[in-house]
Amino acid sequence: MTSVVIILGPPGAGKGTQAVRLAAEFGLPHISTGDLFRENLSNETELGELAKTYMEAGKLVPDEVVIDMLFGRVAQDDCTGGYLLDGFPRTVAQAEALSDRLSEEWTTRTMQLDVPDEVLVDRASGRLLCKGCGNIHHEQFKAPAKEGVCDACEGELYKRADDAAETVKERLEVYHSETKPLIQYYGERGMLDVVDGSRTPDEVYTDLRALLTTSKASEQEVT
Ligand code: AP5
Ligand code: MG
Repeated sequence: MTSVVIILGPPGAGKGTQAVRLAAEFGLPHISTGDLFRENLSNETELGELAKTYMEAGKLVPDEVVIDMLFGRVAQDDCTGGYLLDGFPRTVAQAEALSDRLSEEWTTRTMQLDVPDEVLVDRASGRLLCKGCGNIHHEQFKAPAKEGVCDACEGELYKRADDAAETVKERLEVYHSETKPLIQYYGERGMLDVVDGSRTPDEVYTDLRALLTTSKASEQEVT
């Protein structure tokens, strides 16, 4: 049995922060559709150009574009034993496309990070990312030891363009209207666990880790 682990949650919920740790501990490739788009943007590909307009406006990239990109990525060899998704699916159409793609040997486990909107705005506005290794910091909650420099690789830290206050507001609205229905979608299918993501990163991680090491009737361990 092979597993797809989905980390579901609003912008700034901590999906990337938690996914990096889970991926390392459980030996799963971490696939973030936002990171894939940003990679395309910095490599100035056609896909990057297309995604840019949507991302800068805080809107979702059209389903067919994201699905094609994601399916191309998970068709690679490192995903044959399972993978961890961060930021996909984000619409019911994307969830259905993923489900149609997976054969019966695959199980899907969705873990939703539940965080109130007011906390999310502070998290996104203070986020600092490393240009070199992508490591995620925060001006207050995870301040780098040396200002502007990544703790892990000493790369330069930067702010995401879509973390500007107005864009975060738009991203939150889009989350509520387009992505939240996935809570019901996965909930109805018995594939959803909800974790309180408003606590410290370590506390959140402890819960996520426990969920992944616990079998459910319908699922098996990832390890
Ligand atoms: P994407 O990059 O996925 O952005 P997002 O979903 O808005 O989520 P974020 O990356 O902003 O937040 P996160 O949950 O990863 O939080 P993080 O760990 O960094 O997508 C960007 C854009 O790409 C979309 O808007 C869309 O245009 C497009 N796109 C991507 N996927 C798509 C799809 N499937 N369909 C259509 N379009 C798509 O943490 C945030 C900050 O908080 C950090 O500074 C961190 O240090 C801090 N932090 C984390 N956890 C905690 C904690 N527990 N306590 C205190 N601080 C914390
Ligand atoms: Mg992220």
